[in-house]
Amino acid sequence: MTLRNDISDIVLSEEKIISLAKSLGEKITEDYKDKNPLLVGLLKGSIMFMGDLIKYIDTHVEIDFMDVSSYSGTKSSGDVKIIKDLNQSVEDRHILFVEDIIDTGQTLNAIIDLIEYRKAASVEIVTLLDKPANRKVDVDVKYVGTEIPDGFVVGYGLDFDEKYRNLPYIGLLKPEIYQ
Ligand code: PRP
Ligand code: MN
Ligand code: MG
Repeated sequence: MTLRNDISDIVLSEEKIISLAKSLGEKITEDYKDKNPLLVGLLKGSIMFMGDLIKYIDTHVEIDFMDVSSYSGTKSSGDVKIIKDLNQSVEDRHILFVEDIIDTGQTLNAIIDLIEYRKAASVEIVTLLDKPANRKVDVDVKYVGTEIPDGFVVGYGLDFDEKYRNLPYIGLLKPEIYQ
């Protein structure tokens, strides 16, 4: 058995992901020229997208990572706990959050408030995937790779029970795996 056996459909191929990363990287290059933005990836889902996206940004950027989790352990809680904070100040910096997916919006909604409170010069979001059907709170997402319909997707950083992050594509998990 291979990991591919647990996937019913490939939602985004490796090639498609790279072409999305490239076009987002080109837009970000235009918008952030000479601004030396700090790209902030949220662990762990963003790891692969961060790696591919920055290859296509042709101006100076810095990168850092945060790890946050819901207080209650359920994804419905709007309260987030910081497991790992940034290593540096965001004051007067242009912050660009890098995410694999925006689902309910609650993770970023809470973190953006915090970063604004810390006096960032600007705060924007780039996400590979957007699942607007599941949104519970409004988040203003400036750069979206592609919208996806509701469904359990894994791979390219996204997990089910910490597994499948290592798939090089985004796939729909077979219901029998998570039911
Ligand atoms: C997932 C995903 C996003 C977040 C989106 O992360 O990577 O960060 O959920 O959900 P939301 O819009 O409903 O807040 P998760 O908390 O599962 O951690 P992980 O990145 O380590 O998998
Ligand atoms: Mn995540
Ligand atoms: Mg997860």
